[in-house]
Amino acid sequence: MCGIVGYIGTKNTKEILLSGLKELEYRGYDSAGIAVLQNGIFSSYKAVGKLINLEMKTKDFKTEGFALGIGHTRWATHGKPTELNAHPHFGENSCVVHNGIIENYAELKRELQTDGVTFLSQTDTEVIVHQFEKNQKESNNSFEAFTKTIKDIHGAYAILLATKGESETLFFAKQGSPLLIGINDVNEKYFASSDTPLIGQCSDVTYLEDGDYGYVTPTKIALFDKNGAEKETKFVALSQNKLLAQKEGYRFFMEKEIYEQSRVISDTLMGRAGKDEILFDELDSSLFDGINEIKLCACGTSYHAAMSASYLFERYAKVKTSIEVASEFRYRKPIMTKDTLFVVISQSGETADTLETLKMAKAAGLKTLVICNVDNSSMVRLADASILTRAGIEKGVASTKAFATQITVFWMLSLYIAKLRGSLSQEETASHIDTLRKVPSHVKVSDEMHERIKRLSKRYLHGHGFFFIGRDIFYPLALEGALKLKEISYLHAEGYPAGEMKHGPIALADPTLFTIALLPKHLLYEKAKSNVEELSARDSTICAISQIPFDKADDFVEISACEHYMLEFFEMMVVVQLLSLEISIRLGNDVDMPRNLAKSVTVE
Ligand code: M6R
Repeated sequence: MCGIVGYIGTKNTKEILLSGLKELEYRGYDSAGIAVLQNGIFSSYKAVGKLINLEMKTKDFKTEGFALGIGHTRWATHGKPTELNAHPHFGENSCVVHNGIIENYAELKRELQTDGVTFLSQTDTEVIVHQFEKNQKESNNSFEAFTKTIKDIHGAYAILLATKGESETLFFAKQGSPLLIGINDVNEKYFASSDTPLIGQCSDVTYLEDGDYGYVTPTKIALFDKNGAEKETKFVALSQNKLLAQKEGYRFFMEKEIYEQSRVISDTLMGRAGKDEILFDELDSSLFDGINEIKLCACGTSYHAAMSASYLFERYAKVKTSIEVASEFRYRKPIMTKDTLFVVISQSGETADTLETLKMAKAAGLKTLVICNVDNSSMVRLADASILTRAGIEKGVASTKAFATQITVFWMLSLYIAKLRGSLSQEETASHIDTLRKVPSHVKVSDEMHERIKRLSKRYLHGHGFFFIGRDIFYPLALEGALKLKEISYLHAEGYPAGEMKHGPIALADPTLFTIALLPKHLLYEKAKSNVEELSARDSTICAISQIPFDKADDFVEISACEHYMLEFFEMMVVVQLLSLEISIRLGNDVDMPRNLAKSVTVE
């Protein structure tokens, strides 16, 4: 997830920007840059990789006296992590830093190019500065031009923009991505995407709301709401605890990441979920020419996403799909035929077992695709094509938001392939897209839900094991629920197809065998329900998750009423994540760094 800093004042602007970016490192980034406007002249520096590279580049650059500056750490979403793609982005006289995604960038870019504008980067961000300069030429008033620009762009953003003609003004706007303004008693103004860069520099902050925009000068903060009405800037005292600030008030990064799912899924959908079709700018549809089978290969949570994808691909795209655990696949002398598209899934893009299978597929001459969260990772560099999941950095070892975005990508990809194969009508696709757009609101964690699970968790701290059960695509979700629980609670948990319990595991049923039953209303409800009844009859303790009340359960977690099984899938995903989190917290475990595990498994 990108980070923004900004400053207007008389201190050492370069140092303030660099140390601000350092405080945002925890958000993850792959390149960084700064721009300083002093005496009507812009100085800008960018570097790929760690901030030390930017520090080296700027070591002879000095800023003394009044200046304004903007800085950015970038997590690539549109375009590779290169210096050209790093922010700030420049027009003729202005520059911009931006977090978020500009949904209509391709359209605006085409229009600007027709007007003769040359683009230097592959980013969506660059359109902002060119659009601003176009508007500036038309209005001759920079703030008017900025106001028009934020009306022209659609999507999510936190923006800081500076322009030569206004060397004491920093323009800002916020929609969907966080942005704060900090002040202190020496009349300096700071901007940042989270509290951390402001701690120690500012006494008070204002957290901008969606739709807010305006400008800041050494003596003024002009703030406007989404309707263009000027509003009062309300400041609150800034807490001075950095670790707490990084976790944004959550107890653990995993908790924060569960809460972030709504926003990152919106990012994943942005620019891809069209009106009645799925658009993947990054894919050439010829990738699917001559393909009769899709083979999905991954480890851990990514494997569960792959398994979920196999249900969607066969159901909607009507393409034969197989799944493979990477560590098994690499040693079993698999038959690989060239009519198979080989897809690897990885949050990190570095998992050794998965990477090896990708190499095998390439060596066998198969077409390859990676679904990944980290641009420029080994897998992204190696595969023929890649789709980025846009979850932002995931710090908790137990994967949550990466899984949520992988499922979102796979659902979209199943519709994309369905279109190529003509297996869904336009109406059916449009209806899916409608449902997809509802996912962000269904994964929002409500206080009531979290409180309910917190209370429930105290009854599930012992016992001789957990069975997470579900049918169809809820089976991989059951596997994922069990993996989450065992990773961070160290309790024994298994995921099982609900219909398979009677073929053996039901022998374990007794009051201290905990069954977490996934009972979607819209997919095989009666079938799954009777499997749970069999367990209930043998006195297993049942916690049912459903939108339909279930009287044979000891505990019941009610998800919201919805009309599609995939919405139920996403809601239940949040429930099982929260349940694991709360059980782990009650057991006193280190939620973010569970014993014996590493975030990225780069060894065999
Ligand atoms: O980075 P990857 O998605 O390739 O990682 C695969 C697994 O190591 C990973 O999903 C692991 O299972 C997580 N700890 C699950 O929470």
